[in-house]
Amino acid sequence: MKVAVLRFQQSPFLLPVPALWTHPRSAALSTRLCKDDRSYYITTPIFYVNASPHLGHLYSAVLADCLHRYKLLQGFNSKFATGTDEHGLKIQQAAEAAGKDPMTFCTGVSKQFRHLFDSCNISYTDYIRTTEQRHREAVEHFWSVLWNKGLIYKGSYEGWYSTQDESFLMPSQVGDALDSLGKEIKVSLESGHKVEWMKEENYMFRLSAFQSPLLDWLRGNPQVVQPDRFHQVVLKWLQEDLPDLSVSRQRSRLQWGIPVPGDDEQTIYVWLDALVNYLTVAGYPDKHNQWWHVARHVIGKDILKFHAIYWPAFLLGAGLPLPRVIHVHSHWTVGGKKMSKSLGNVVNPLDRSQIFTADGMRYFLLRQGVPDSDCDYTDNKVAKLLNAELADSLGGLLNRCTAPALNPAQVYPSFCSQSFPREQGGRAVGEDYLMLDAVKNLPAVVEKHYETMHVYKALEAINACVRLTNGFVQRHAPWKLDRKDSEDQRWLDTIIHISLECLRIYGTLLQPVVPETSNKLLSRLGVQPHERSSAALNFLPRYQGMDCPFEGRALGSDCGVLFSRLENQNADKQKPTKTKKSANFK
Ligand code: MSP
Repeated sequence: MKVAVLRFQQSPFLLPVPALWTHPRSAALSTRLCKDDRSYYITTPIFYVNASPHLGHLYSAVLADCLHRYKLLQGFNSKFATGTDEHGLKIQQAAEAAGKDPMTFCTGVSKQFRHLFDSCNISYTDYIRTTEQRHREAVEHFWSVLWNKGLIYKGSYEGWYSTQDESFLMPSQVGDALDSLGKEIKVSLESGHKVEWMKEENYMFRLSAFQSPLLDWLRGNPQVVQPDRFHQVVLKWLQEDLPDLSVSRQRSRLQWGIPVPGDDEQTIYVWLDALVNYLTVAGYPDKHNQWWHVARHVIGKDILKFHAIYWPAFLLGAGLPLPRVIHVHSHWTVGGKKMSKSLGNVVNPLDRSQIFTADGMRYFLLRQGVPDSDCDYTDNKVAKLLNAELADSLGGLLNRCTAPALNPAQVYPSFCSQSFPREQGGRAVGEDYLMLDAVKNLPAVVEKHYETMHVYKALEAINACVRLTNGFVQRHAPWKLDRKDSEDQRWLDTIIHISLECLRIYGTLLQPVVPETSNKLLSRLGVQPHERSSAALNFLPRYQGMDCPFEGRALGSDCGVLFSRLENQNADKQKPTKTKKSANFK
C-alpha cells in the first residue's frame, strides 16, 4: 500500500500557539451548568441532501425531539434545530447526476426531509439550510475570526479524501478493496467508502495546536461525550497524531460551497461550513449568547470525529464555549448490514410511519434503539413490539379502567383511604404497596434516563410499571365486586382511581416519545393541557392525605382505541386482512 504524505507549508506570519486563542480554559469551564439557567438548545446533525431520507436519519431526529419535548415539560425554554447540509462535492456530484442545478436539487431533497419530520411530529423550532444567506454570513464571520487569530494558513494538502464521507484520511485509515467490477480500489477502513488521492493548494487549520486543550477538556468533563464508550474513543484518537486540517478546496474542483472570504479561488471545506450551522441557528455572530453556552448535539457514531475533535477545536480557536454534551447514537442495520442503495436494503421512514403511524415508529425507534450498539430493523419487530406494549398493555389498561361496565358514571372515581390505608389492614396486599412505590419513583427513574438519552431504559421502566398496574387490576378483579355493597363499591372506585393515577403518570411521561397517543390518553382521563407538565407528576396525592384535582371529574369523551393492533405479524409472508379496529401493514 502506498503511503500518503501530509505536507504543510506554514504561513510566515504564524503566531506561537499559546497566543492564538483567548482563554480556552474559560471557554471550557463555561460548559458547566449554571443552576438557574432555564435555556436549553438541542440539535440534530444537518442531513446531506444527496439522497432521500432513510430510517437512520429519522432516528437522529426522533432522539433529539424526545429530549426537546422532555425539556419543555420541565419548563425549560428549549430551542431545537434541525435542517439540511447542502454544500460540498458529494451534493455537487449528486445534482449533476440528477441533471439538475444544485439549488433546485437541494430544495427538492430538503423538502423531503422537512416533510418526513413534519409527518413524524419532529417539533423543531428552526429548520436550517446551509444555502441560506444567514448561514453564509455566519460562516464567513467564523472563518474571519479564525483567520484573524492566525489559526488558518495557506498550505498544501496531499493525501486521501473520501467524497462520500467528505473526509480527509490518514494512511492508517485506508485499506484495499475491490469495487463492483472487481477493480482494486482504496477505501476508508471505517466507512468502507472509496477514497481518492488528492494534492491541492488550500487553507489549513492549526488543529495540531489543539491536541492538549482538547485532552484537557475531555478529561475535565467526563460526561461531555456520552455514552462513555465514545468518550473513550475520542480520548484514544487524541493520543494519536493530530495533523493540521485542510479547510478549503480549490474552486475549480468544488464550486458548490461558500467561497473563502478574500479568495475566490477557494471554497470552504463542507464540514467547517456545516458545523457552523449550530451557531447560525443560535444567532451567531451577534445574538448567540443566550443559546450558545447551553448547546447539546445529538449525532450518529460515524460523525463523532467531526463533532468531538474538529468542532471543539474550531470553537476553542474562535474563543467560544464548547458544547455541554455530545450525545452519540449507534446505527440501524437491515439484515445485519448497513443500509445502502446498492444493497437495496434502505428502509423508507415515511412509508413505515404511514403503516405503523408516526407514534408507532417513534416508539419503536426509541424503545429498540440502544445508543451503545447497532440494532437491526424488521417490520415484524415493529408490529410485535407495538402490539405488545402500546396496544395490549397500555391500551388494554386504559380500556379496562374506563370501560362503562366498571365505570358507568364515566368519572375519575374517589379514592378510599380505609380500603387502601397507608399501613396494611385494608383490602390492599403487599404487592400493591410495592406497585405504588414503583410508580412513585418512576418519574425520577425516567428523568435520569431521558437526561442521558437512554430513552429505551426510560421506556423499559414505564413498561414494567404498566405491567404492574395491569397485575394490580387483574389481582383484584374489580368486575367481580358487588356494586350494591357499599364497601365493595368503595374498593372498586379505589382500584380504578389508583389505576387512572398510574395511567396519568405514564401518559405524562410518555409525551416526549408518543405525543399523539399520550394526548389521547390524557384527554380520555380528563387531564387538561396545563396539567401535563413535570410539575403534575405527583402520583396519587390522596394516598398522601392531599386533595386530588381529578377526583370526581368527568372523563374525556373520546373512548376510541388508544393504539390499534397491527394484524399482520409476519409482514414479509402473510397477506394483510382488514378488521375494524386493526391496522394492517405490508
Ligand atoms: N451532513 C452530515 C452531518 C453534518 S452535522 C454538522 C451527515 N449527514 S448524514 O445525512 O449522512 O447523516 C445524518 C445523521 O444520520 C448522522 O447522525 C448519522 O449518524 C445518521 N445516520 C445515517 N445512517 C444511519 C443509520 N443507518 N442508523 C442510524 N443513524 C444513521 O453526516
